[in-house]
Amino acid sequence: MICMKIKRLTEKTINRIAAGEVIERPLSVIKELVENSIDAGAKNIVIEIERGGRNLIIITDDGEGITKDDLLLAIERHATSKLSEDDICNINFHGFRGEALPSIASVSRMKITSRHITKDEAWQIEVLGGEVQNLVPAGLKQGTVVEVRDLFYFTPNRLKFLKSESSEISVCTDLINRFALCHANISFKFISDGRVVLNYKPNQTDLSGEDTRVGDILGADFLKNSVKVSFSRDYLSFKGYTSLPTYSRKTSVNYLTYVNRRIIRDKFFIGAVKAAYNGLIPHDRYPMIALFLEIDPYEVDVNVHPTKAEVRFKDENFIRGTLISEIRKAIAQASAPQASGEINPSKLYHPQINLLPPRPIVQSSLNINRFVDERPQAKTFSNNFNREVSTSQIHDSITDSFRSVNFEVVENKSVEKAEESSSSSDSFPLGFAKCQINNTFIISESKDGFIIVDQHAAHERLVLEKMKKAMQENRVKSQPLLVPEVVEVGAAMAEKILEFSLSLRKFGIVIERNGLSQILVREVPYLLGKLDIRGFIFDLADNISEYNTITNLDEKLDEICGNIACHSSIRAGRKLSVEEMNAILREMENTPFSSQCNHGRPTFRKLTLKELHNMFERT
Ligand SMILES: Nc1ncnc2c1ncn2[C@@H]1O[C@H](COP(=O)(O)OP(=O)(O)O)[C@@H](O)[C@H]1O
Ligand SMILES: [Mg+2]
Repeated sequence: MICMKIKRLTEKTINRIAAGEVIERPLSVIKELVENSIDAGAKNIVIEIERGGRNLIIITDDGEGITKDDLLLAIERHATSKLSEDDICNINFHGFRGEALPSIASVSRMKITSRHITKDEAWQIEVLGGEVQNLVPAGLKQGTVVEVRDLFYFTPNRLKFLKSESSEISVCTDLINRFALCHANISFKFISDGRVVLNYKPNQTDLSGEDTRVGDILGADFLKNSVKVSFSRDYLSFKGYTSLPTYSRKTSVNYLTYVNRRIIRDKFFIGAVKAAYNGLIPHDRYPMIALFLEIDPYEVDVNVHPTKAEVRFKDENFIRGTLISEIRKAIAQASAPQASGEINPSKLYHPQINLLPPRPIVQSSLNINRFVDERPQAKTFSNNFNREVSTSQIHDSITDSFRSVNFEVVENKSVEKAEESSSSSDSFPLGFAKCQINNTFIISESKDGFIIVDQHAAHERLVLEKMKKAMQENRVKSQPLLVPEVVEVGAAMAEKILEFSLSLRKFGIVIERNGLSQILVREVPYLLGKLDIRGFIFDLADNISEYNTITNLDEKLDEICGNIACHSSIRAGRKLSVEEMNAILREMENTPFSSQCNHGRPTFRKLTLKELHNMFERT
């Protein structure tokens, strides 16, 4: 080993090393600078970026400003106006480490122009790669403007790790939405390459005095399908909105959690919220939640990580337990039947655990009963064949099912005709439709027994395979909607989805921007069945949030086709004609993987004549 003498690192090197931890990408610069503006009491914050933030980031605020002397101090490491050394546990601001400005300054060309509220003049400091270039008087009426050019110019290695411009813009949009959600009294404007992406006015309240920002950001649909949570005792209080079990999502990206107005992404919340919904939603679905927790600063440690996105609570068990019980209580109250007054069907609660993920209610243009539970019931005829059960159990469950379901024998000549005309029933292993049970299962008779088909599961697989084939052969046809569908998704999601509009065209989906928070769907794929556009768009948004790095949906072909299939399938609960049922059976026979649905569940079960004979002890 070569012996090197120990040397003290220079301030510049220390700052660049620290920048590695605090400033990972343009997003981190925006986070730190917006936090500074909020700490300075700003009422209006404008965030402008160019080329996803790598060329330029400008944050303008109307906060209290910085004096000339403090400008020099502010860019020094561990210099902060927000922490008293006598009591470092008492943290009341976003910042307290005094690291952000020196870190950003050391890896970019930074300019801060500011005018302190008590002063008549503004000053500007220019820093290049951590070295002060000059400090000069400047013209500025109020507040602070921080300009960060050529981020990572001095640490080019970092540039290699940056994602595409569009994904940087997307994460920045998400971050600003998260800030805006929790600071409804501050106006936020986000401009990317000259285009206004977000624009939230301050103090928006509706007639009842409710803050409307939650609806603006998360969408009216979320508000309609969520309940309020509110709790306050001793050193802890929290409030927010949490979705009804019937309105679940694919991932936990929709957890918007805050502690003392700080954006927190901590496993603690994911676990607690999941536990609160235990047994109410399928294990692979997540609720959507906006939760604002306020806690005595002495009861929480926010200094867990330099980015301050995680927290440790002193009494974790108490907070977890309270969250779980309060969320469950709120859901239970909203779900209780109402004695009088108007009942909002979307608030109705289905206590049984469904086999398929619940989705937002389908739009009215679909020829399907809107409020019918779309999934097979927990105890059904076909499910019982999944398990090994004794003959008598099967017998019991069949009679039970036949008693409870709306059993309908279809007298239709076309059945016999189809059977007669078939040269050999061997070529139709799934047989011919005899009837439909519970508007959910198709019963068909084959040569050697009978078959029960889960119509939703089967149709979903058929659409998926058709879609995949069409994609591979590059011939997905789309059909314009007579009336374009407007989907209210909230500004955050709208922005994310619109970035993928070109990719979506390949899937036959044509979308456009409609205001800041809506998407207009003009064309949908021409496939079997109609597409539940809203359900599809919501799942797509969740997927897109998950794939931060991808710019082209082709990479996720299977998943996107799966989403389309799932939302364009014939739902359980829809009455089918015999022709429709037979068409499904014939397609299943000619489709690969048709014995399982998209989610791996069986699409059909068969009971042979031999098994029937055994069941009735006829052998
Ligand atoms: N936008 C701003 N308005 C007013 N003061 C600011 C602003 N940004 C930074 N400052 C001042 O600069 C100091 C250093 O900022 P920073 O490096 O982010 O550290 P911290 O926020 O942890 O104190 C702050 O403590 C604050 O006094
Ligand atoms: Mg700061």
